[in-house]
Amino acid sequence: MKDIAIEAALSAGKVLMQRFGTALTVEHKGDVDLVTEVDRASEDVIVSILRGTFPRHDILAEEGQYVDSGSRYRWIVDPLDGTTNYAHGFPWFAVSIALEVENEVTLGVVYNPFSRELFWAEKGKGAFLNDVQISVSRTGRLGDSLLATGFPYDRKKSAVNNYDHFVHFQQAAQACRRPGSASLDLAYVGAGRLDGYWEMKLKPWDVAAGQLIVSEAGGRISDFDGDLFDIYGVECLASNGRIHQEMIEVLKAGKRPE
Ligand code: IPD
Ligand code: CA
Ligand code: CA
Repeated sequence: MKDIAIEAALSAGKVLMQRFGTALTVEHKGDVDLVTEVDRASEDVIVSILRGTFPRHDILAEEGQYVDSGSRYRWIVDPLDGTTNYAHGFPWFAVSIALEVENEVTLGVVYNPFSRELFWAEKGKGAFLNDVQISVSRTGRLGDSLLATGFPYDRKKSAVNNYDHFVHFQQAAQACRRPGSASLDLAYVGAGRLDGYWEMKLKPWDVAAGQLIVSEAGGRISDFDGDLFDIYGVECLASNGRIHQEMIEVLKAGKRPE
């Protein structure tokens, strides 16, 4: 299953790179939420590879509707994570593919085709960047930490838009970034390139693969209270573990989603 997931991610990455920087048809799903023909082309490639090998498995993917058959296997797919970046020619985006087996994510693959970096993890077997095992950073203080986050698509309409948390972390941490691809943010925590990451109102396809990479790399993943993380939930807090409690304290001061 790992090999097929990687094959699907690499094939989708090829599609993304072939079309990157070309004129695209861009549609609006919402006020600031975009979708391009390439999101769909990438998803088609992934789904046909997964379906070709595992015709009975279920698929939950961002762009298409797939009938749920009640299989114990469910693939969770974001064919292009970082669409806004992609549509602007800003080279920061990924393909994210996870496998959930009876409600537990057992496999996660996040592929950055621009840098050709493939982050992957299997439950209980560690996390890897290409062939090399990765682990989270050893930064022990929030004040020395580099963090990342993102802002939800309803940010102009909802007051629960993460702006307050961003200001608080900007004060408390060494620096905060808003790279624009949640799956890569999580993979970067796993690789020790970021010390922590938080975001709200994400979808399961944004986080399913990346959260496994964080935990298999020795990091911690939770909601904003430090409780059990749920890929179908609304809060995501990931860190190297050492700064987790300090991040929880900062998050107490801002607005939380329902
Ligand atoms: C988005 C990216 C972004 C995050 C958004 C996501 P998309 O995914 O992961 O970093 O802040 O909330 O929706 O729409 O580019 O697949
Ligand atoms: Ca996404
Ligand atoms: Ca997407």
